[in-house]
Amino acid sequence: MDVLEAIKSRRSIRKYLEVPVEWEKVGVVLEAGRLAPSAGNCQEWNFIVVTDQALREQIAEMSAEGLWMATAPVHIVITANIESISRLYGIRGERLYAVQDCAIAASQMMLAAHDQGLGCCWVGAFDEHALARLLSIPDSIRPQVILTLGYPDERPEMPKRKILENLLFLNGYGNRIKDIGFVLMDYNLAGKAAELGKAAAERLARKMKEKREASLSERLRSQKEQLRKKLLKK
Ligand SMILES: Cc1cc2nc3c(=O)[nH]c(=O)nc-3n(C[C@H](O)[C@H](O)[C@H](O)COP(=O)(O)O)c2cc1C
Repeated sequence: MDVLEAIKSRRSIRKYLEVPVEWEKVGVVLEAGRLAPSAGNCQEWNFIVVTDQALREQIAEMSAEGLWMATAPVHIVITANIESISRLYGIRGERLYAVQDCAIAASQMMLAAHDQGLGCCWVGAFDEHALARLLSIPDSIRPQVILTLGYPDERPEMPKRKILENLLFLNGYGNRIKDIGFVLMDYNLAGKAAELGKAAAERLARKMKEKREASLSERLRSQKEQLRKKLLKK
């Protein structure tokens, strides 16, 4: 799945099949988090994978969202090492970078999950202290995000998004663009270019396959011919 396609089609999943998630897939999700950018590349995060059912049920209870969370066979709790980040970047590190680093790791993990056919939901509304106690998280570490992970048992529609016209300013806050067509046109062109590239790659792959098959059948024909001649000589 290409990145834009994954961004467009990913949804928050809050209903899961009773099917375990393969460890390899969990590994790919974790790898996507590990490779995320971070302030000063300091990577002061940890990922706690929770598979134990009793723990997942307790996590669900301490989250405002409640019990659907427990139906996800895997929870990933993303924590920030506040002490290290604030040592490096002071209050900005603690209040901003710690949050942003974990957010971007979570975002990449959600896309990686989606790419592998898994559903995922970001849960931010949980009792942080209760969660820290449950998972033995020390005071210097702050849980930022819980991701639920599992095979989806629903296909939600995309919740409404604001249109770009209402979000975009040019060269200063509040300067709206009157005719936004050119921005969207570029965007559409990028999409078209990707489609054309994909079609060209498919055409090339088809041609190469035909060539391979043709040369194979040519080889077989000549082998057959040689065999026939040999047999005639005898
Ligand atoms: C910071 C943050 C906190 C969130 N917290 C919760 C939450 O506590 N419970 C929940 O069900 N969804 C939560 N979500 C998921 C959002 O509700 C969801 O992303 C949004 O409705 C858009 O839907 P979509 O993800 O399908 O595009 C959170 C998302 C973010 C980014």
